[in-house]
Amino acid sequence: MEPVAKTEERFVIGGLAGARTLRGSIPVRGAKNAALKALAATLLFKDTVTLANVPDIEDIARANELLRELGVKVTRLGAHAYACTPPASQASALPPAIANKFRASIVFSGPLLARTGRVSFPHPGGCLLGARPIDLFLNGFAKMGATVGEKDGVYEIVAPKGGLTGATIFFKNPSVTATETLILAAILARGTTVLKNAAREPEISALADFLNACGAKISGVGTGEITIKGGKLLSAKKKFVTPPDRIEAGSFLILAALAGKDVTITECEPAHLLAPIEHLRDAGVSIETGKKTIRVMGASPKSPYAACDIKTSEYPGFPTDLQAPMTVFLTQAAGNSRVFETIFEGRFRYLDALEKMGAKIETCDPHRIIVSGPSLLSGRTLESPDLRAGLAYIIAALVATGESVIHNVYTIDRGYERIEERLQAIGAEIKRI
Ligand code: UD1
Repeated sequence: MEPVAKTEERFVIGGLAGARTLRGSIPVRGAKNAALKALAATLLFKDTVTLANVPDIEDIARANELLRELGVKVTRLGAHAYACTPPASQASALPPAIANKFRASIVFSGPLLARTGRVSFPHPGGCLLGARPIDLFLNGFAKMGATVGEKDGVYEIVAPKGGLTGATIFFKNPSVTATETLILAAILARGTTVLKNAAREPEISALADFLNACGAKISGVGTGEITIKGGKLLSAKKKFVTPPDRIEAGSFLILAALAGKDVTITECEPAHLLAPIEHLRDAGVSIETGKKTIRVMGASPKSPYAACDIKTSEYPGFPTDLQAPMTVFLTQAAGNSRVFETIFEGRFRYLDALEKMGAKIETCDPHRIIVSGPSLLSGRTLESPDLRAGLAYIIAALVATGESVIHNVYTIDRGYERIEERLQAIGAEIKRI
């Protein structure tokens, strides 16, 4: 079993007091939100699946633990590669103690239900961003003929005799994980499933391309309507190569804009970051994109940057997962910027600490804030509230004057691989203690 991060670990960060000195290149790791779904998909195979470019992070360690509990043989092939061999007969209960730890655990319910005819799981864990309901998953399973029950916080789903049946399912919101879960369930269902108002995130396309190469029949991915023709267990004709993490790349982009002299973000996919790049360019950031690189030059910057308005939305809009880092950027931009968080209602919990650092932020309602800048931020002791806000705090601490200490580093390790080592390599003063 992979080691669990010690909760008492913390980052100590020396702020640059607004100077733009970071330089060099910083590589982006594989996307957490793609690799986790590919691990869940291994439950649909009859043979050994190989996964590459998997980030070495806590959520992946938890997902592997979950697979092992279900009887899957998980072998580590290297720092970023795994081989997963499903057993002839799988267990069908997701152990609450593990599933509670990360949101993507719910994606395992789709393939398990389709393959074993039943599944039980707790309400999934993950970052506290609001209610994070699971009605779209439960309604989708019910539409495919399953019986849905719940007892003492554990959901019990049972497929009809003969297995799940294809159905047309309309999502009232285009949910990423519900789209993925129902694609995986539909692969072994009888007949055709159509998902309407489906999510279009690139991680879903990466998953579907891989599954299609292994025998699945999924079409329409990347549009709002996805069709899946049900069939047999898949065979591993191809390796899953995890695409680059666009949220990590976007966070590095924001950090480089605020604290970089000349930083190149490597091993990334600029085409997945069009909305953040457009916003940052509008604010005056000098950005050059290559095939797999993004270069940010702060040497002769527009100083300060200009305020701009952000509205988070589903892909290809501005990602909600970059909302907190972008708010840190806006604290350094001149004028009033409006931030409208349309996806989650609890995603501003990090603001208090930012205000204590000196940011000027007015909260209009649970979805909207106004950031007035530029503000001089000063270093503080902070507690990371969740994965993405944790990285936003690292960015704020690097921009601030003086020293900051960030506690609850586990929440950052859940999604970012040894972040301090990569930041040190471009000149950041950050230590893990
Ligand atoms: C995924 C990502 C997360 C990202 C989010 C939005 C993973 C593991 N996590 O989360 O990093 O912030 O997409 O890009 O991939 N909803 C319902 N009912 C449901 C499910 C969702 O109403 O059954 C609502 C949510 O409350 C939210 C919206 O749908 O308002 C979108 O959420 P969703 O796309 O499901 O987020 P996740 O898949 O949990």
